[in-house]
Amino acid sequence: MAIRNILALGEETLRKKSREVKVIDGRILTLLEDMAQTLAKAEGVGLAAPQVGILRRVVVIDLGDGLLEMINPVIVETSQEMIEIAEACLSIIGRRGMVARPAYVKVEALNRFGEPIIVEGEELLARALCHEIDHLDGQLYIDIMSHEIFDDEDEEEDT
Ligand code: CO
Repeated sequence: MAIRNILALGEETLRKKSREVKVIDGRILTLLEDMAQTLAKAEGVGLAAPQVGILRRVVVIDLGDGLLEMINPVIVETSQEMIEIAEACLSIIGRRGMVARPAYVKVEALNRFGEPIIVEGEELLARALCHEIDHLDGQLYIDIMSHEIFDDEDEEEDT
């Protein structure tokens, strides 16, 4: 396992579309492990493979209650209710912005064994799922934020 370098805003890779994982081989398993370690070191709540320079549809999330690994995650359901709070990103250090996300999302993905899993998230988990899956399509929260925040009035999550 290894800590990988997290790409910063401006790197072209962050803007590219990631490819689906067809075979969960040793490289993907190593990627998952490295991403988990990199996320923990960075003290973030989520990380997507393009953030470590790998254009594959792989995401890890840890809100402090256990690691979630997702391969080829797809949002299949969202609530109409939206919540707007401050959001941040490990690839965009020192900035935060207000972003509206669905209060609930349902995601279908594969686990590391290639088995289909369903992840349902509310509030922060819903937000992290949306944020990380956006990364897989080259989208960053700054693209959809209503405005940037320049003070400390809101809580922060690095995803
Ligand atoms: Co991010």
